[in-house]
Amino acid sequence: MQYERLVNWASEVWRQRWPGRPYVTVWASAECSNRLAQQQIKIGRKLRGKAHYQGHETLDCPVIVPISDYGSRGRTTMLMVSAGAYVFKFSIENDDPFEVIYASSYFDDDVQDLTAIALLPEDRLETWAAFEYACARAVRPRIRRRRDVYIIGGTDSFFDPTVDWDDVILPGDLKHELLEDMEAFFDKGVEIYRQLKLAPFRKLLLAGVPGTGKTMLCAAMAKLAIDQGRIVVYVSGSDRDGASFEKIQRALQAVTAARYPVLLIVEELDAYLHEDDKARVLNVLDGVESPNNPQGALMLATTNYPEVIDERISKRPGRLDRIFVIPTIQDEQHAEQMLRHYMAEQWRDEHIAVVNELVGQPGAFVRESALHARMLAAHAHSTEVTLDFLQTSVDSLLRQVRSNSDFLARRQPIGLNTHNKNGGKSLIGPRR
Ligand SMILES: Nc1ncnc2c1ncn2[C@@H]1O[C@H](COP(=O)(O)OP(=O)(O)OP(=O)(O)O)[C@@H](O)[C@H]1O
Ligand SMILES: [Mg+2]
Repeated sequence: MQYERLVNWASEVWRQRWPGRPYVTVWASAECSNRLAQQQIKIGRKLRGKAHYQGHETLDCPVIVPISDYGSRGRTTMLMVSAGAYVFKFSIENDDPFEVIYASSYFDDDVQDLTAIALLPEDRLETWAAFEYACARAVRPRIRRRRDVYIIGGTDSFFDPTVDWDDVILPGDLKHELLEDMEAFFDKGVEIYRQLKLAPFRKLLLAGVPGTGKTMLCAAMAKLAIDQGRIVVYVSGSDRDGASFEKIQRALQAVTAARYPVLLIVEELDAYLHEDDKARVLNVLDGVESPNNPQGALMLATTNYPEVIDERISKRPGRLDRIFVIPTIQDEQHAEQMLRHYMAEQWRDEHIAVVNELVGQPGAFVRESALHARMLAAHAHSTEVTLDFLQTSVDSLLRQVRSNSDFLARRQPIGLNTHNKNGGKSLIGPRR
């Protein structure tokens, strides 16, 4: 086992450096091998137990592959963890100095987390714990009030909180209700939860078929939240690590650590509910492991598959406090509003003719039709986007959507999933 190889190697090093001196072996914090921590903690730093940090040396350890893992945090790429072997040195006032032999390593290719061990004199555990804490503080971001979004997983391009509230076009009072819910929670709800001795954590779900504007709505809510001085934590499963519970955990840590109200956005929540993690995610939703941020945390989750989150989801208040169904275009009035928005200055009254064909389609369809029509016109050197261009564009997109759904329906029996981003209509579908 890798653990034993690390410990055997470390105890050999210990025997060479401190022959005959007793030691204990402990699981250690992976942050001590992070070079950021090592750079930030200066020689001479005071630690508990009348101790001072006196620097470190890198050790050559044949059983460790010194891998570094980089990730993105906000707009910057930074070192998340690095594996390695070190001796950390400490001095004690009026006493002998001591050393800690430390090794961290990935155990196998599938495990993302580092595991670390340390060997040290038993009476120096307190100083070592203080050093580990200092390393962790140096590495983990502290959330400060800032006009920004804290992104976990994915990259910046997955989420851009610059969407204007007015650009999201939805029927009736839907937008208003959603906004009211958020404001009422932060304004009065947080205090009420606290009086009831509950962690102020409210959970809203946006459910709808692909392309209806859920991501857009999240971005617009994020912009409003930032304007109100709240922190936005955004979790994305769209990177090489996928939708892992570890990301949710990091998000919850960030929510708890923030000293400000937080809007937590979890896109495609259903993707986190694969068998291994389902119970843990549901524990978070059920309140067993909810984050406790006294300023309040509002979770805004999205899904195409609400029934994956819980078959009885709509009958079980508490797990999710409210579900907002974000619909496809409901009627001609809604369709016209959307089409005018995307045709912008190219709008002509004759465009009204296609409006009835847009009913039942998601907003993404209208945007694509409008963009395509404008492109066709430009390609034909026409200064105006006539109805012909728009009609051609709508027709071809409708054909594409229909043939895609036919194709996918036919492929289904041989195992292609039905998560059809190009126009799947059903909210009910198997888990991805
Ligand atoms: N209600 C809407 N109002 C205005 N534009 C919309 C709306 N819905 C969709 N769009 C347009 O379509 C694009 C795609 O929508 P969006 O990514 O928000 O859909 P989604 O519901 O998140 O889809 P998915 O379920 O596939 O993630 C948006 O960037 C926007 O340009
Ligand atoms: Mg989306």
